[in-house]
Amino acid sequence: MDAKVKSFSNNDQDKSDSFSQDVLHGLSQEQKTLPCKYFYDSRGSQLFEEICELDEYYITRTELALIDTIKHEVADLIGDSATIIEPGAGAGKKIQKLLSALDSPKTYVPVDISPDFLDYSEQKINQKFPKLEVLPIEADFTKPLSWVQQRNIQNRNVFFPGSTIGNFSPQQATKLLANLASITDDDGGVLVGFDLHKNVDKIKAAYNDKKGVTADFNKNILVRIKSELNANIDPETFEHEAVFNHDESRIEMHLKSKIEQTVEIENRRFDFQKSETIHTENSYKYSNQAFVELAQEAGLTSQKHWMDDEQLISMHYLTK
Ligand code: AVI
Repeated sequence: MDAKVKSFSNNDQDKSDSFSQDVLHGLSQEQKTLPCKYFYDSRGSQLFEEICELDEYYITRTELALIDTIKHEVADLIGDSATIIEPGAGAGKKIQKLLSALDSPKTYVPVDISPDFLDYSEQKINQKFPKLEVLPIEADFTKPLSWVQQRNIQNRNVFFPGSTIGNFSPQQATKLLANLASITDDDGGVLVGFDLHKNVDKIKAAYNDKKGVTADFNKNILVRIKSELNANIDPETFEHEAVFNHDESRIEMHLKSKIEQTVEIENRRFDFQKSETIHTENSYKYSNQAFVELAQEAGLTSQKHWMDDEQLISMHYLTK
């Protein structure tokens, strides 16, 4: 996922209702959890943008350089007059690199739940690619995307970079890929980027940066709970923790309570033992083989894949 500019707007009430429900539900579990999608308010998006620039966080810059290297090959596979649909859209450097390599791309469809971000994306792409039709769609890309099939658009391709797929469990990722596959047609495919399994110290360093930006990003979810809900929680009584789970091949982010405490949110009380954690994010790391199998379960075949020289990340072009 490219860094994005987001802010609260129109349906703030609905958003804060589901935020509060998800928080209350997550904190009622035996292993307390909070969904990682709530990292991304405007401050969280800003912090994610900073993460993407960190020395330790190799994913963004490596993928950007890889797209630069492979864009003409990808353009040949995609063909001319393509429509590119980008779930959780970027409007950043990655989509621009791809669009600039394509032969007369027809339509760009950024999909996002934030109308503000879609406006920003539309403006930015329109400026750079005046001949391209930009068709922003306000939707949750994890839900069925039937609106695209309803339109008569040919050569429909999905662009899903940034290793966002890694933030879903393999089961959810299979469903998501199948959902994305359903919006492509016989000419199209899904170009997806993910983080490869590698030396665990390198992965751990990427999620435990020295400047503490990832820690602030993680704690931002508590900052949001404190400011947006009726809550007496002190984010500073929690510390960031990122641990590698070998069995699941994923790095996990947690928020660990520094003290034994009870916090009150929307008139509900939640007890924390000292060192008890809230599990906030998973980031799965795949081998190419494991990813090909996951794609197969979603009914997709990997036509071609590319890696950077250090084999840090991988991109696959998948077709039905
Ligand atoms: C957005 N996503 C792919 C990032 C990742 O690497 O899983 C989010 C992130 N979490 C901590 N650092 C970055």
